[in-house]
Order: sequence, then structure tokens, then C-alpha cells
Amino acid sequence: MGDGVEMQAGLERVVETIDQQIRWCYEFASPFTAGVLECIRDNLVKGGALAPLVVPWPGEPMRDVVALRLAGVLQMMARTGLAPRLVPFYPAGGGRWDAAAFARELENAVAANLDFVRGIISRPPQTNEIGRSAALMPAYALIAARTGLPLRILEVGASAGLNLMWDRFRYRLGSHEVGDAQSPVTVAAEWRGAWPGITALPRVVERRGCDRTPIDLNAPGEADRLMSYMWPDQAERVKRLEGAIKLAQQVKPPLDKADAGDWLAQQLAKAVPGVATVVAHTIAWQYFSKETSERGHRALEDAGARASAAAPLARVSLEHYAPDKPPALKLTQWPGGETRTIANAHAHGLWVEWLEV
Ligand SMILES: C[S@@+](CC[C@H](N)C(=O)[O-])C[C@H]1O[C@@H](n2cnc3c(N)ncnc32)[C@H](O)[C@@H]1O
Repeated sequence: MGDGVEMQAGLERVVETIDQQIRWCYEFASPFTAGVLECIRDNLVKGGALAPLVVPWPGEPMRDVVALRLAGVLQMMARTGLAPRLVPFYPAGGGRWDAAAFARELENAVAANLDFVRGIISRPPQTNEIGRSAALMPAYALIAARTGLPLRILEVGASAGLNLMWDRFRYRLGSHEVGDAQSPVTVAAEWRGAWPGITALPRVVERRGCDRTPIDLNAPGEADRLMSYMWPDQAERVKRLEGAIKLAQQVKPPLDKADAGDWLAQQLAKAVPGVATVVAHTIAWQYFSKETSERGHRALEDAGARASAAAPLARVSLEHYAPDKPPALKLTQWPGGETRTIANAHAHGLWVEWLEV
């Protein structure tokens, strides 16, 4: 299930990772997902229908985010009609939470859909967090202002490509509003620090993303799959994701199925004059293999060496650079290659702390 054939994890390790995820869900304000995970954990401990599908786990349960695979498959069964009796427990279905009753329905739902559950939990969960555009957008505006050029955005690890559509959203950042006032997607965040003076969104002349497993939201079941990994009691995030899925279904974000390292080497092979090329990634580079990361860095350095004022290059990254700290937004600009941390931001975009003056 995980990439690693090197290890198997027993019940104790699986339960440990689920317990850790339960703490994170409480901390990140999703008590519903925490409650679902408590029932999942109890089902495993009691040797319920989930147990033979999950234990022993053929990989590292924390790295494989087993807890989110399991919470996701239950929500998917509720959303897609495979387990109608789970629906009333979910916020969108009425939200009548009763842990003992949920535990019974969980057992029935899994027992009736063993192959489905096995198939879904064999795949990594996939998310696409639009809230991260609250940090990306001001970085793009800064690059456009500094270079005086329209943008060519290249996003690696783009998932469904929803953040490639950042200029089709409306932004409410602190007391500042910019973007498309008619957009079905509002990205709202608490703004900390000085406002960088953005009054309009910069022009994008080209956008493209890649992912190892890109999500095509027009393919059957894929929108439900993406929605199923969202914590359903976070109403604002749910609404925002639904809106962005609709936008992407109308005009598909251009996405390639590719490894980030190879793809960057191809995309950056030639300098493009008259535009500022921006390589972006959010909570993605940290998942790349050593080889992918090295290839990606080499492609950026080679392209950076060729960059000029007429064909500048930038890298914008929102990643967890330090353990137990919120993600940092870093900006590197070529020519020059100077890197600065321009903001810190909540992983789901609840707040942005702007540091650049
Ligand atoms: C946690 S998700 C973040 C997705 C998106 N950037 C966001 O912020 O919502 C990480 C993404 O990186 C992708 N990924 C992992 N390894 C990759 C690789 N070597 N090349 C391209 N994409 C990769 C995964 O498929 C997944 O969609």
C-alpha cells in the first residue's frame, strides 16, 4: 500500500498514528473527523470489519496517512450512495452524531463493501487546498509589481490544479478585497502584518501544472473522491472547494501527469522573454523523493542562471520548512537568486502573516 515494501506495521503502530491524527483534528477544528476516527480506531482494536483490511499495514502508517485514507473512504461511501445509512451522521446529511450508532453503521458499511474499501485505501488520499491561494496571490502580485511583466505560472504537485485558477477567485484578506467579485469562490483569511498594496490581480499569460497523479474533476467519481478527503464539518472550506470544483469543471486547469523534477526540466529548458516565469508549489515539495527534489533544484538553478530582466524567473513555495511551525512562504527571484521568507501562513490559509515590506 505504501511505497515501502520494507516494513509492516502492526495494530499498535496503526492505532498510534490514528490517535495522533485525532489530536490534530481537534487542534485543527474538525471534531467530526476526530469522532469518525475514534470509531475507526475502536473498530480496528475490536477486530471489526476494517481490521483485516488495515492490519498489518504494508508500509509506514503515518507516512501513508492511513487515518485520512480510512476517514476518506467512509465519507466516499456516504457521498456516493454505497452506504446510505452513514449519510445522516455527516454534516451535509443532517449531522446527527451518535458515536455508538455510527460505529454500528461503519461496521455494516465496510462489511458490505470490502472490495471498494480495499481499493480506495490502497491509494494515497489526495487533497487540494484553495485556502493556500491566500498566500500565493500576494506573492504573484509582488513578482508582477517587481518585474513589470505578466506571469507564466508553473505549479508542481498541483493535484486537481485548483490553485492554478487563483485569479478566478475573490479574496477577502483582512479588510482588503480584491479579485473577481462574481466568483463562486471566496478565499478569506485573517491578514497579519502590513498590506502589500494590492489593488488588482496581475495578468496571467500562461498557466500549467503537473502532478504525479493529477485529478481530472470531469472524470467519473473524481470530484467525490476529492471532496471525501475534506473534513466535512469545516463548512467554509467545503463551500470553497465545491465552488472551485465547479470552476475547474467549466474550464479545466491545464495539468500534466508527470514527475515534478522531469517536468520542471522540460518547462524551464528555454527562457521565455516578456513574461515572468513563476514556479510554484504548496505543501508538495516535501513529499518529493530525493531524486525528484534534486532534479527540480537543478532545473531551477540552470534556468536561474539563464534568467534576465527581460525573462525573469521566480520560485514561490509554501511548505513546512520547520517542524512544529506553520508553513513559510518563500520567494526566490532570478537574476540574482536571492531567497526571502515573505510570509508565514496557516496550512489551510486561515491566516497569512506578511513579512515583506
Ligand atoms: C499534499 S498534496 C498538495 C496539493 C496542492 N499543492 C495543494 O496545496 O493543495 C501533494 C501533491 O503532490 C503530488 N506529488 C507527490 N509527489 C510528486 C512528484 N514526484 N511529482 C509530482 N507531483 C507529486 C501528490 O500527488 C499530491 O497531489
